[in-house]
Amino acid sequence: MKRIGILTAGGDTPALNPTIAGAVVRANQLRVEIVGLIKGFNSLFNPRVPHVFLNPLYQEIPELDPTKGGTLIGSSRDYVDPEKTADLDMIVDRLRRLGIEGLICVGGDGTLNGLQPLAERLPTVLAPKTIDNDLGLNYPSEPDEFVRAADAGAKSGYRYKRAPSRATFHLDQIVNYVTPGYATAVFVSASGVERIRTTAESHRRIAIIEVMGRHSGYIALGSAYGRPDMILVPEHPLDLEHLVERVKQTYDLQKNVVIVCGEGIVDEQGRELGAETRSTDPAGNVVLSGAAEALRAKMVQMIGDRYFQLYRRGDSAREAIFTRKVGHTQRGGRPILFDRFYAAQLGAKAVELLVEGRNNAVSILQYTGSRGFHVEGYDANRFRDRWGLIHARHMHPSLYDPVQMKPSAMGIDYLTPIFTDAIGEDDMEHMRQTLFASGNLTQPYHSINTDVNKRIRFLAEAGGR
Ligand code: F6P
Repeated sequence: MKRIGILTAGGDTPALNPTIAGAVVRANQLRVEIVGLIKGFNSLFNPRVPHVFLNPLYQEIPELDPTKGGTLIGSSRDYVDPEKTADLDMIVDRLRRLGIEGLICVGGDGTLNGLQPLAERLPTVLAPKTIDNDLGLNYPSEPDEFVRAADAGAKSGYRYKRAPSRATFHLDQIVNYVTPGYATAVFVSASGVERIRTTAESHRRIAIIEVMGRHSGYIALGSAYGRPDMILVPEHPLDLEHLVERVKQTYDLQKNVVIVCGEGIVDEQGRELGAETRSTDPAGNVVLSGAAEALRAKMVQMIGDRYFQLYRRGDSAREAIFTRKVGHTQRGGRPILFDRFYAAQLGAKAVELLVEGRNNAVSILQYTGSRGFHVEGYDANRFRDRWGLIHARHMHPSLYDPVQMKPSAMGIDYLTPIFTDAIGEDDMEHMRQTLFASGNLTQPYHSINTDVNKRIRFLAEAGGR
């Protein structure tokens, strides 16, 4: 294999550049050229196929900096629809005209679904990325547990559900223990929780902090490092009475409460609190916004003004209970050491998988107590259920204690290997040296896009190369 393509698809993470950098370093060693496709699949739907040579003469271009968040080749939520075979043929034709013999998609579960029909036409592999940490399996047989029922409202005509599991959950059996991007997102969320705590303490307030993650509660779980009083995850339906009782107990004691809620939390009927106005993004994902606000409205009603007025702690429940979203800061900025280190290895592994001829494989990050973290290749087919679909991984419910509303003992065992020493000394030093640099006040921001633009080539120009 002489030339491969790489693209970053879906929502970005802080760990995309290290993944690309790891792939490029390995490609240099193997004397393979890497072409970056601009803005994910969007590049391939454009007849000019904007692209960048990332390692001319087997030297990485200087813009490729693994300590920078985002992705130098851009990303989009465009995706390939498996039903549209003409589009698929067109994409493969464009890649071939660029001399590309294999493709690395850096993406999550949606991308892995999308690349299934592509892998039937061109060697394609996935390097994982997602802050939601929902790419993987709780145990290898998990895809076999899905059942489907006809649902006229669903796009595919079916609704997929997990049947009760017969497997015993054990951390050593997780397939893709953790995905680059997650650790940095938790770093940001936990820091946010710590910071909101002191202002809640000063003003005797109850803070509800919403974190991302869609239908998976991993980010919420990890935010336990910021020591919130309660964490709510989508995998366990909200028990409002229990929550309010615990909130009052905690408030009576310490006169402030910090609650973290995952954006995908559901009520006892399984309805998402954050999707009261239902909408979807271009890839068909439900846009979740407003879980914290919906929860606040319920708490304001249940706790009431009198509770706050009684001991002169506040004028009203509305004033005392406030919400904040950590939002897209979770997806941006410098990746912390854990993400940089393993993202690079996963990118490198993806190149190896292509070169070894392992079409439709995924580079995954495994963890066992005896071996620690290590990368492996895993056949994408093993992620598929019996109808061929790949589902987002839910955080296994046993990682969470619904009574304490905190990570369970197993949840703590899950988090510890990821986050112990996850922050490098250089991460902190970088902040110390750069945030208040006086040049920040005088020099405009110089975007990576400005430099990469100068390197973009188009299919017509690249034709006979
Ligand atoms: O999947 C990553 C993610 O950040 C989710 O956690 C979140 O729900 C969604 O993307 C937000 O997407 P957008 O940036 O398109 O609003």
